[in-house]
Amino acid sequence: MNNAPGLGAGESVRKKQARLNRSTRGQWGLYASHRAEIERLLVPERRGGRICVLGAGNCNDLDLQWLVEAYREVHLVDIDGDALQQAAKRQGLEGSAKVRLHEGVDLTGAADTLGGWARRPPTGEEVEACTCRAAGPPGEWAAALGGAFEAVLSPCVLSQLIAPVRDTIGEPHAGFNTLLAAIRGRHLRTMADLLLPGGCGVFATDLLSSARYADLAKVAKEQLPGLMRTFVGDGKYFGGLDPGAIAGVLKNEPGVAECVGELKAAAPWLWHLGLNKAYLVYAISFRRRR
Ligand SMILES: C[S@@+](CC[C@H](N)C(=O)[O-])C[C@H]1O[C@@H](n2cnc3c(N)ncnc32)[C@H](O)[C@@H]1O
Repeated sequence: MNNAPGLGAGESVRKKQARLNRSTRGQWGLYASHRAEIERLLVPERRGGRICVLGAGNCNDLDLQWLVEAYREVHLVDIDGDALQQAAKRQGLEGSAKVRLHEGVDLTGAADTLGGWARRPPTGEEVEACTCRAAGPPGEWAAALGGAFEAVLSPCVLSQLIAPVRDTIGEPHAGFNTLLAAIRGRHLRTMADLLLPGGCGVFATDLLSSARYADLAKVAKEQLPGLMRTFVGDGKYFGGLDPGAIAGVLKNEPGVAECVGELKAAAPWLWHLGLNKAYLVYAISFRRRR
């Protein structure tokens, strides 16, 4: 969800995410078709495994009752702990041993630094230091999840991880692309690291919104692959999130490529958020090599 209002003056990343999550909390009904697309990609070959969702937030894109049938344990990770708690409650799974909440986890390792940049622009050295930290290991929370998973889902969270960089230093900054690449690489590496050999990673991202293409909400599903190619070809999409860039990291980036098997692309779909507001979403699935 990339065209959400940016960081307010002095607003921390944590506060902004909590504000956005509160504003979309009641949208379970609107998310129905998006939720069904994601669910289809998560059907396990065998029941009884464990799944981890990075950026689960309000869980409007996850039917937790379905997930706890399909998986033995469902681990939900988000920087906004309140969103996770309320989501488990809304879906009747508050306190369930099958649903584990990992609250307050920052998937970038840089959220607090980026929040500070909304108050004062960083120096070049500060941007470099932040890039190095983002490129580093995911942190103790990953070990604290208690072992590897049969499935890991990233449900349109990467655009949110990058948004504070765009909101603060912005694309024209000389350090923008390297910091974006560090956050993107860390995220995909985290997914691969959390998987058991043979486990399935599902990366979904929003790529384009109706703010850029006003008629997006009206496009038929079969026309979406062509539309996606056109917009990517014209460079009119959320930079750094196109299928070529994501596949490039999964196939070539050291620390990721060695453990990622063949990639499988899902046909893009629309995530409707109202009559005239929609996002084009695509997904790439992969298995961790045995
Ligand atoms: C677009 S939402 C994903 C959709 C969500 N699963 C739902 O159904 O509402 C992105 C989520 O990423 C979380 N998020 C944003 N920045 C984060 C960060 N640095 N670390 C962890 N989670 C973050 C937000 O709190 C939000 O819940």
